[in-house]
Amino acid sequence: MTIAKEIRESIKNASWIRRMFIAGAELKKQYGSENVFDFSLGNPDLMAPQAFQEALVREASINRPFLHGYMPNAGYMETREPVAQLLSSESGINFTANHVIMTVGAAGAMNIIMKTLLNPRDEVIVFAPYFAEYTFYITNHGGIKVVADTTDELLPDIADLEKKITTKTKIVVINSPNNPTGRVYTQKTYEKLAEILTRKSREFGSQIFILGDEPYKNIIFDDSIYYSPFKFYRNTIVATSFSKDLSLAGERIGYMGISPECEDADEIFQAASFCTRTLGFVNAPALMQRVIPHVLGQTVDISQYKERRDFLFDELTKIGYRIARPEGAFYMFPQSPIADDIKFINILKDNLVLTTPGTGFGKPGYFRISFCVPMKTIEKSIEKFKKAFLEI
Ligand SMILES: Cc1ncc(COP(=O)(O)O)c(C=O)c1O
Repeated sequence: MTIAKEIRESIKNASWIRRMFIAGAELKKQYGSENVFDFSLGNPDLMAPQAFQEALVREASINRPFLHGYMPNAGYMETREPVAQLLSSESGINFTANHVIMTVGAAGAMNIIMKTLLNPRDEVIVFAPYFAEYTFYITNHGGIKVVADTTDELLPDIADLEKKITTKTKIVVINSPNNPTGRVYTQKTYEKLAEILTRKSREFGSQIFILGDEPYKNIIFDDSIYYSPFKFYRNTIVATSFSKDLSLAGERIGYMGISPECEDADEIFQAASFCTRTLGFVNAPALMQRVIPHVLGQTVDISQYKERRDFLFDELTKIGYRIARPEGAFYMFPQSPIADDIKFINILKDNLVLTTPGTGFGKPGYFRISFCVPMKTIEKSIEKFKKAFLEI
């Protein structure tokens, strides 16, 4: 028994996204990658903006003592200050550099936040469907995952949330724009969330935090609006990154923001800086921290994701798929035409279309399409989606 029991179990139940990735690699070998339609991974395919490339080259060519050395665990002041300004302008609340910690992606930020806040067996509520990795981010730090439902429109079901909150609830994770649904929370959703969490914290004499997981906050289409969760609820901490909106997923750069209105904001900042160190991140990548101030507020060409969303949504609904229209991110979460979503994604797989079952996101009866693939691939895939739909 070399491997810890918990890890052995986790690996055995390996994520569906990974499973589809492996299945895809085999199919591609067999049929040629141009004949396999791989919608399984959320790995952004659009190029990072030219300004990023230029800033990277400029910053990489500088040299001076300690340029590649250790730094404060929270990150460079020169990076945290402009990030704080950005958060201030999004929220209307005055952030300083001491409300910002640069992190190893949104995943790093979430682990730091869980480590900072959770006592053993504290409860963390997530809304199904949810990003499957949340399970591990919670159990990594001794927390218990509690799942609340979403409505038919795939937005948080506030009545169900109310039932799930207990004296042990410490964190409610929200994710907008959402992976896997692409839905963007409305102002009303935030208001209702804030109302219930304020009421329940008072009733139980506890502190309940909102953890806003927001790596897709800049990928929003049409007239949908990004609302900063800081505006609605004081005990809010946000985890985000440049993985998706700048296509920098492999560079592992993100940040967490602590609301200045948070009870104990200073203490949380100190504790989270400590956890950044002791979790072994020490600090976020230095070169990326120097590049980010030059490209803050910029994104990849979002219109390309919108074009794909429009085309895919129109074509699939014409076939008969039922889908809550995504307003952001690069995912779509159609209902499976048969109750058994795993059976259906296997039918799609037989047609060389790779998707991920809703079961993998805690929401059976659906499947996820990730459209980080060229438009040509999407166009060619439609007849396959149609064939699978007619086969059932
Ligand atoms: C909802 C959600 N949260 C967090 C992450 C992790 O993002 P990062 O690569 O910035 O760590 C992802 C990545 O796919 C995601 O989809």
